[in-house]
Amino acid sequence: MSEKKPPTSRRDFLKLFKGLLATTGLAALIGPILAYFWPAKLEDVPSNPVAVGPVDSLAVGEGTAVAFGRYPAIVINTSEGIRAYSAVCTHFACIVKWNPESGQIECPCHDAFFEPTDGGVISGPAPRALDAIPVFVEDDILYIGGEA
Ligand code: FES
Repeated sequence: MSEKKPPTSRRDFLKLFKGLLATTGLAALIGPILAYFWPAKLEDVPSNPVAVGPVDSLAVGEGTAVAFGRYPAIVINTSEGIRAYSAVCTHFACIVKWNPESGQIECPCHDAFFEPTDGGVISGPAPRALDAIPVFVEDDILYIGGEA
């Protein structure tokens, strides 16, 4: 004799729904904690070149920021050619920015200023030049990093 299974009652449905909500809430709490202790692996400096874009997309005097491993890089088309630097300030690691009006790379934290053509320190507390990143063009695409 087969016993017919009763249809899901409203009470069973609410139990299931509460369990689903509890599981989702727990995952929302635990996920960021796990991500904090086991962050995604990001190389400090990528081993492969990073594409910036078409080589003619940066006019002389323009600059752009590019994700470059764990930290950003800045790419500037200077009057002496395209240059790329780590955007990490050599003073206390703030992120520097290209200022096309002043024609300098600026650190907003303690007012360090850097030369766009060689990354050298113009003024401010930075102890040394920005780290240069190799630049090359392949098939009209501008790349930074990799083997130079
Ligand atoms: S962190 Fe850039 S000047 Fe201090």
